Amino acid sequence: MLNVSLARKVPARPGLTIRLVASAPFIGTSHDKRQLARLGFTGAVGQAVLLPHEDRDAELLVGVGPAADLDATVLRKAAAAAAKAAGTNKSAALHHVDVTGGRIDPSLATQVIAEGLIAGGYRFDEHRSKTPDHLNRVAIIGGGDPTEKEGLARGVTIGGAMCLARDLVNEPGGTLTPVEAAARIGAAATEVGLGVTVLDRKGIEAERLGGLLAVNQGSTEEPRFVRLEHRPEGAVGDVAIVGKGITFDSGGLSIKPSEAMMTMKNDMGGAAAVAAAVIAAAELGVAVNVTAYLPFTDNMTGGAAQRPGDVYVARDGTTIEVLNTDAEGRLILADALVMASEEEPDAIIDVATLTGACLVALGDKIAGLMGTSDELVVELQSAAEATGERVWHLPLPEDYRAQLDSTIADIKNLGSRFGGTLTAGLFLKDFVADGIDWAHIDIAGPAFTEAPHVEGPAGGTGFGVRMLVAFLEARAALAAMETDDAGADSGE
Ligand code: BES
Ligand code: MN
Ligand code: ZN
Repeated sequence: MLNVSLARKVPARPGLTIRLVASAPFIGTSHDKRQLARLGFTGAVGQAVLLPHEDRDAELLVGVGPAADLDATVLRKAAAAAAKAAGTNKSAALHHVDVTGGRIDPSLATQVIAEGLIAGGYRFDEHRSKTPDHLNRVAIIGGGDPTEKEGLARGVTIGGAMCLARDLVNEPGGTLTPVEAAARIGAAATEVGLGVTVLDRKGIEAERLGGLLAVNQGSTEEPRFVRLEHRPEGAVGDVAIVGKGITFDSGGLSIKPSEAMMTMKNDMGGAAAVAAAVIAAAELGVAVNVTAYLPFTDNMTGGAAQRPGDVYVARDGTTIEVLNTDAEGRLILADALVMASEEEPDAIIDVATLTGACLVALGDKIAGLMGTSDELVVELQSAAEATGERVWHLPLPEDYRAQLDSTIADIKNLGSRFGGTLTAGLFLKDFVADGIDWAHIDIAGPAFTEAPHVEGPAGGTGFGVRMLVAFLEARAALAAMETDDAGADSGE
């Protein structure tokens, strides 16, 4: 991961000097305006021009757009663009105070610049025999505000969590098996003090996680179920988060065409984002109890694979007719939602690369958001908005539920051809206990990108990490306020 630090003094040989520059009249650089215009530099968000110098290290100007529109999301994008444009330079110093000072909180500015640099400088070189020179370290030149240090620490934690989620998604299905996913997440979680429980097949059978076992039937890989517990001192409130952990989705016997299968190592993007967010929450000491439920298996076509038309029994006794083995995510999530419900948390959120239909509806940059509580949906929308992740609220139409009626079992795992994101949501809803607020985030689109994007290279994006952390922090803050109020009411 890119090493990001905070410096007060400019290093003598920074390697590369990065300057964040607002568009005309170009705040942030002393270069001649006409010269910049000749270079085609307008200062648009993320626009980068490299200026070689004879007498000193090269300079990289990166646009942040109009100074009046500057916010955390713009700043993060510009920092990511800077890291991406750094070329073969190994180290850099980034100047931003001319542009950000007085316009944006110094701690937040430092945080999102660190996040952007780490995201933009992210590389996945695990499987390359040679790696070219690339950016290794960046010093953010601070303005001297004492809160910048804390901002940096937050940015490094959240950026690091995004990298963890990306690494897990980018690792091929053949190497990131369910056992390997559980081992890596368990190790990272233990390091930050989370409680970790990993169930193997026996444990999964004992817990009657029928969906996870049904999907795993076609595989030679052992399934795993990972549970993470964040129990900070002074915590108020309990949040459960469930993540889909299909380490590779071939579709099973309802096999996918080869084109559609190419990206299916990303089908544990939900579990990766959830694990990374809970790890970040532990590092940041977010004062709310969080339990993560992460079922892992791949979805394969072995001789023992479930057949279309087979029926299995879920943890709560519901019988499920599996008409399409490629609608497997909802099967492993159903048991996890039942398990989460049994512990009666204040809210349950699940994050899953659940439906191709969501990609069709919202494209690959926006997640679908559904839920049974308008308050919870709004909280998640605000968390996404604040952290530059994009979600769109979709409905859970009660009358569509009839599409899931089975002729021989309690429910079937397939709706009609249309509105597949909504029927998937309605399927999950059946397994959440009445009275518990629940939201479902379908990240089939934004979890993965086939082309490089503003905030990183092609591959896993780490989508969901930032909004989940922000959601948990907001919950903790809200709970603290409510306890204060209760204290005041009782005359304390
Ligand atoms: N993992 C896929 C959904 C997906 C598609 C994620 C593209 C990311 C990118 C999921 O398991 C799936 O195959 N869903 C089916 C459901 C259908 C059979 C009801 C789909 O979307 O086609
Ligand atoms: Mn599938
Ligand atoms: Zn899937």
